[in-house]
Amino acid sequence: MSEADPQSKPQLPFDRIGGREPIARMVNRFYDLMESEPDFAELRAMHARDLTPMRESLTDFLMAWMGGPRDWFEKRPGACIMSAHRALDGMNFAVATQWVLAMQQAAKETIPGDPDFVDSMVSAFASMSKGMAANAGKSDTH
Ligand code: HEM
Repeated sequence: MSEADPQSKPQLPFDRIGGREPIARMVNRFYDLMESEPDFAELRAMHARDLTPMRESLTDFLMAWMGGPRDWFEKRPGACIMSAHRALDGMNFAVATQWVLAMQQAAKETIPGDPDFVDSMVSAFASMSKGMAANAGKSDTH
C-alpha cells in the first residue's frame, strides 16, 4: 500500500494484528504473567480471584479499540474505561507501571514478528494508564 495512492485506506490495527485470536493470546499471557510474577503482585491483588471474566472482557475491549467488532461497547452502553479505572481502589502510578510492563512483556512474547506494532500499542497503553493513575480517585465524568 502506497501513501501516495488516494484509494488506499490505512490498515486497521485489528487487521494488522490478525483478528481476535492473537489479541486473546496476548491477553491470556498478560493475565498469566500477572498471576505468576511477584513483580505484578500488587496489580494482581486489585483483581478478583477468578480472572476468567477479565480475560474475555479485555480481549473484547481491545478488539473494539483496534477497530474490530464493537460487542464490548454494545453490551455496555456509555461505558468509559478511563472513568471506570480512575475510580478503582488502589489505582496509582506503581500499579499503572506494573500493568504496562506486564502487557509489554505479553505483547513482545506473543507478537514477535511486528515490534513496531508492539511499540506503538504499548505506548498508547502507557498514556492511558498514566492518565488513569493521574486522575485516581476522581469520580466525575470525563
Ligand atoms: C493503570 C493501569 C491499570 C490497572 C491498575 C487496571 C486494573 C484493572 C482492574 C482491577 C480491573 C478489574 C475491575 C473489576 O473487578 O471490575 C480491570 C478491568 C479492566 N481493565 Fe484495567 N487496569 C489498568 C489499565 C487498563 C488499560 C490501559 C486498559 C485498556 C487498554 C484496561 C482495560 C480493562 C478492561 C476492558 C477491564 C474489564 C472491565 C469490565 O469487564 O467491566 N485496563 N482493570
